[in-house]
Amino acid sequence: MTSQNNPTPKEAWGKLILLGEHAVVYGHTALAGAMDRGIRTTITSESFSGPSRLRVPAWNIDLHSEDCHPVAYAFRAILEKADALGGRAFTIRAKANIAPAAGLGSSAALCVAIARCFSHSLEETTRWANAGEACFHDSPSGVDVALSAQGGIGTYCKTTGFSALSCPSLPLVVALSGVDRSTADMVRGVASRLKANPGLTALLEDIATTTLTGKRALLDGNWEVLGACMNQCQRNLSDLGVSLNTLDTMVATAMNAGALGAKLTGAGGGGAIIALAPGRESEVATALRQQGFTSFITTLGHSE
Ligand code: PMV
Repeated sequence: MTSQNNPTPKEAWGKLILLGEHAVVYGHTALAGAMDRGIRTTITSESFSGPSRLRVPAWNIDLHSEDCHPVAYAFRAILEKADALGGRAFTIRAKANIAPAAGLGSSAALCVAIARCFSHSLEETTRWANAGEACFHDSPSGVDVALSAQGGIGTYCKTTGFSALSCPSLPLVVALSGVDRSTADMVRGVASRLKANPGLTALLEDIATTTLTGKRALLDGNWEVLGACMNQCQRNLSDLGVSLNTLDTMVATAMNAGALGAKLTGAGGGGAIIALAPGRESEVATALRQQGFTSFITTLGHSE
């Protein structure tokens, strides 16, 4: 496929994990949704010489496919999978309106948006984007790529993939801690703690049970129960060692401002929190902003 066949911008969404992060790496089910913001790529030029170039101005990224940089490795992996080059070189510009390294699925969204410049199907997009995502994380569960490519809200399990849920979009407050972290490091940290203390698997099992309860509550529109599940998941993630004082403070701020539930989202160790606060989203977002955290209200379940 050439860029002439694919001249229009390609979009991919950021994602938020509502329940089930880390447990999903061990084969349990996560509940997640796509955000109404993400990354848009455009092929801006095509030539017959030189390496391909990727520009993501919002993240200060401007690199070539041959560079030694994790993003370059991912870019190259996708181009190779897509067999896109055929003697040609492309310049791709990515417009990002999600923060990197914040638990919002930024690397998966970038991989999906690049893959979409060349792919013909969802299957190709997902497979190629996962090859790119593997350059960022040792063993990604695939939840980020699935949500980024498919949108909506649903459950994700490594063995069965993504299953869309039929439920209305869900307003959530998102707040950024401003602390960058690496998903791979956080996943590795959990693995070594589990090895040292196998009893910690009970936490993963509790996260899995809570996720299934939360899924039922989401389908029933029972926000009290869904909020309680988020709080329970946060306690488990904290006991698993992936929260931070800053994240705990943010969660407490959201709860004091009227949220029904609040938790870290994604790998933790920094990144972002989410809060469920039906009808009080603005108050919660404002309270977090007053504490100095960037916050915004998003709609989970985006799919257009
Ligand atoms: O922080 P993020 O957006 O990369 O999400 C990571 C989610 C984990 O469950 C911790 C890892 C994974 O591969 O599912």
